Amino acid sequence: MTQLPGLLDTEAIRKDFPVLDRLIHDGKKLVYLDNAATSQKPRQVLDALSEYYERYNANVHRGVHVLAEEATALYEGARDKVAAFINAPSRDEVIFTKNASESLNLVANMLGWADEPYRVDHETEIVITEMEHHSNIVPWQLLAQRTGAKLKWFGLTDDGRLDLSNIDEIITEKTKIVSFVLVSNILGTINPVEAIVRRAQEVGALVCIDASQAAPHMPLDVQALQADFVAFTGHKMCGPTGIGVLWGRQELLEDLPPFLGGGEMIETVSMHSSTYAPAPHKFEAGTPPIAQAVGLGAAIDYLNSIGMDRILAHEHALTEYAVKRLAEVPDLRIIGPTTAEDRGAAISFTLGDIHPHDVGQVLDEQGIAVRVGHHCARPVCLRYGIPATTRASFYLYSTPAEIDALVDGLEHVRNFFG
Ligand code: ALA
Repeated sequence: MTQLPGLLDTEAIRKDFPVLDRLIHDGKKLVYLDNAATSQKPRQVLDALSEYYERYNANVHRGVHVLAEEATALYEGARDKVAAFINAPSRDEVIFTKNASESLNLVANMLGWADEPYRVDHETEIVITEMEHHSNIVPWQLLAQRTGAKLKWFGLTDDGRLDLSNIDEIITEKTKIVSFVLVSNILGTINPVEAIVRRAQEVGALVCIDASQAAPHMPLDVQALQADFVAFTGHKMCGPTGIGVLWGRQELLEDLPPFLGGGEMIETVSMHSSTYAPAPHKFEAGTPPIAQAVGLGAAIDYLNSIGMDRILAHEHALTEYAVKRLAEVPDLRIIGPTTAEDRGAAISFTLGDIHPHDVGQVLDEQGIAVRVGHHCARPVCLRYGIPATTRASFYLYSTPAEIDALVDGLEHVRNFFG
């Protein structure tokens, strides 16, 4: 069995993930390499979810009865865990949403309804990048269409990195917000946050970071990032679906208007007007995803018990091994950085002229789960002149043997298609 320095004890870890024992397609071992789409869930998270529903289920912030108080304590306790996990200065800066898309839409809409100095209008500019997930493109397109603001973006280099050569022309005095991904879901690139934040700060623009593919895989410190907003989702980091996070700087959350209105987010309501609760509640209209937040809290406990530094080292070792092994496959072209340096554990590639959907199907027949398509980042495929990619992505339970299985599987795909 291949041993690499820095690997976690995956034999022990895999025992926590019941689904990884599944045999599929007539007894083939499941090789789950679609972790950038969603991670599997450890028993500790599954137990926290069922325990919540079996013992504590009630609505939060409303009741005076025991269950309501316990459910509220669990929900707010999850907020504390998230705040500590990302080193937020205050728990009140953590807003629960349903996913990262909602978090990013929330930022766009806060700004869309804001007064000066945050107002976005036809004299202002919004900056994104060509490697964004659609969830960090479409909300800004909608905002630009509504306000007349100009949408600009950083292009990509041939090796899958951001082209920052014209940073001073892209981010200007007119820029109100710069929103970019920390780790690309399709290219795997880890972006140079510091350079972008420095320029944004020079011109007084706000910075929003999509950390969906970072939060599960590396230590995340919102203070070190020096961003104004950071968005991520629970289901990619061992948590349940239906729970996302938006972290925002406290004074911004105090100043900016709410987006969704309803119960829970108000202070007083009359038939003429309303006043709002302080953040984070101002941004959490309606019954929130209570069980999901509790599940996310359990996921954070689980990840902390292993250690984010160790998870990062494990995935880095796997990624180094994977790029080396994939280079042995004839006709395989990695779309994105071809070394493990400054890249995360999602690797996209094409295989000759075999369509990625065919690659994915033949791999699936061998028990290997990858994602194929444009990965909700179609501009990246357009940039590199390809219709789609096949993407393998690893997590804390992934093993070198699974990478070997992928490489063997790809040989089989090549033979199959002659
Ligand atoms: N954003 C997820 C992915 O990249 C769904 O697969």
